[in-house]
Amino acid sequence: MTNDPYALATDAATALKGAVGVGSFDVALVMGSGWVPAADAIGETIAEIPVTDLPGFAPPAVAGHAGRIRAVRTESGKNALIFLGRTHLYEGHGVNPVVHGVRTAIRAGAGTVVLTNAAGGLRPETQEVGEAVLISDHINLTGANPITGATFVDLTDVYTPRLRDLVREVEPSMAEGVYVAFRGPTYETPAEVRMCRILGGDMVGMSTALEAVAAREGGADVLGVSLVTNPGAGLVGEPLNHEEVLAVGRATATRMGVLLSKVVNKL
Ligand code: 6GU
Repeated sequence: MTNDPYALATDAATALKGAVGVGSFDVALVMGSGWVPAADAIGETIAEIPVTDLPGFAPPAVAGHAGRIRAVRTESGKNALIFLGRTHLYEGHGVNPVVHGVRTAIRAGAGTVVLTNAAGGLRPETQEVGEAVLISDHINLTGANPITGATFVDLTDVYTPRLRDLVREVEPSMAEGVYVAFRGPTYETPAEVRMCRILGGDMVGMSTALEAVAAREGGADVLGVSLVTNPGAGLVGEPLNHEEVLAVGRATATRMGVLLSKVVNKL
């Protein structure tokens, strides 16, 4: 097996297409914490496999992250690849397994990558728990980057403006915000939350930014959506826990699934 991450993604894409019996995909969706049940609304399942059947994927580690890949046919006749769960940087496998799904999907043909996550809200004045926010840009505070060497990728429009416009055709009132990515697995301190607000952040989380960069490097368009599951630490007083994050996801899954399905059908 190769240790070049790009060649590994090519191998994984070949194995994936063979395993699910689909020759090429149009779009890939990564379902974050709480988003997994929303996958059922996107289309008819063709096949589903554990990520560990393919080369390069780390075994799933966290409750609520199933670690499976589903091939789906949408109402509009598109082939969609849905990642039910993702690998996070805090799992300690390094940056390549974090972006391996995105790289694999692009090599399997996906020209559009939809990244979803659960996030802390940095603006409780205007945000509600259970609200979906379009990611307009990010601040990468993970200390990692999926690209090594002198490859200077432009990140002016990481989150494709045309895709954000398309979501607003479906849901005109949806807010946009800047996603601040930390490595985790700790939630932020109240001082870090205040820092993120000063920096212009609107949501805070532990995923998405590195995958978005890898998708842009691969030439795909990117749509990012955060589900605000709780306010950032210190903003309203109550301590944070992962169960609460998952519960908000379960409560809003149907709504999020309908939204994603409408967007995918408009691609
Ligand atoms: Cl408050 N922080 C981070 N980093 N991730 C989260 C979160 C907060 N709430 C849900 N996911």
